[in-house]
Amino acid sequence: MLKPHPLKGPNRFKLGVFSANADGGLAITTVPERWPARWTDNLTAAQIADRAGLEFFLPIARWRGYGGKNRVREWSFETFTWAAGLAAATEQIALFMTVHVPVVHPIYAAKALATVDHIASGRAGLNIVCGWSPAEFGMFGIALHEDGYTQAGEWMDVIERCYGDDQPFDFEGKFYTLKDVVSRPAALQAPRPVTMNAAFSPHGRDFAAAHCDFLFTTFGTIEDAGKHAADVRQRAAAAGRDVGLYTVCHVVCRETQAEAEAYYQRYAVEMADQSALETRMSGNRHFASEFDKAAFEQAQKRFAGGAGSYPLVGTPEKIVEDLLAISAQGYAGAALSFVNYTYELPFFTDRVLPLMREAGLRTA
Ligand SMILES: Cc1cc2nc3c(=O)[nH]c(=O)nc-3n(C[C@H](O)[C@H](O)[C@H](O)COP(=O)(O)O)c2cc1C
Repeated sequence: MLKPHPLKGPNRFKLGVFSANADGGLAITTVPERWPARWTDNLTAAQIADRAGLEFFLPIARWRGYGGKNRVREWSFETFTWAAGLAAATEQIALFMTVHVPVVHPIYAAKALATVDHIASGRAGLNIVCGWSPAEFGMFGIALHEDGYTQAGEWMDVIERCYGDDQPFDFEGKFYTLKDVVSRPAALQAPRPVTMNAAFSPHGRDFAAAHCDFLFTTFGTIEDAGKHAADVRQRAAAAGRDVGLYTVCHVVCRETQAEAEAYYQRYAVEMADQSALETRMSGNRHFASEFDKAAFEQAQKRFAGGAGSYPLVGTPEKIVEDLLAISAQGYAGAALSFVNYTYELPFFTDRVLPLMREAGLRTA
């Protein structure tokens, strides 16, 4: 009998680790302790998270970096093979794969995802991304498609049919014309592994509403978080489905507020990798358009700190206060990044998890 997937477990607010597979994690900094993302680093971080009872380990999908002093993010592990390795070395945490729809054929994705789900005894997860970087897609000879979410819809349909159809099937879509398709084994999770879509735009939200279990998204302020959540719920209701929400936060958790803020200033401002930061921010029209000029410095700090995600900076108590507020806006959980995951996860799990239990956010 398959155990329930960790994202379907009892904790009111689920926690995961994001982007440990990539150089720097989510940060764009030159501090010497920046995340090297070697295999042993990933393994150690995943095992710390697994033993602490965090729900998921989620990679970023990246094919090229942003240059600068350290060629940040250029080094990143491919996510099917990364998840397969970690699935064999962990016991209860969910292992996600983050997959660029236009880069990976859905029949290949169906088989690779099913393989990881078998290795992980049903702990696999799929994070679908349509991508945004023309330079990255250019490496594959692929242009960014305006209709990317139509392709993503077909892509998901093919994967679900690979698992669900008992007989060979043909598929005729705008993006895929497939003949006599078979793919065994199916994933252990039925009808398919837990799926999220990482997106921000209305098209992305509609895709998640129609096809996924969760939307993985960002927000500028807690107030915005609530508005986004209400909008997504409305779209899901229109599609006759229920879609949960996850977000991403970068974390600096320290004994005192002053210590946490000083370190945030040091790694994300004083020692930010300016050249890589400029490349990163200019490259992403969607994220950048969320901020006006007055907020530009704050946006820069957030991009250097954690790819524009929400900052959780402070004492364990302050971080739990913020997580309570995010949960109250209708979010099911957050994926977290740290400057150095293996140095910082133990303090976070030792100090924040008990306070989350006291606050009613988690039972374990
Ligand atoms: C939380 C979050 C995580 C994302 N992770 C990735 C990623 O790993 N790789 C990637 O190329 N794009 C990633 N994206 C970008 C999306 O793939 C997408 O290109 C971007 O959100 C713009 O699309 P949209 O217009 O649907 O929002 C992420 C977006 C969000 C909101």
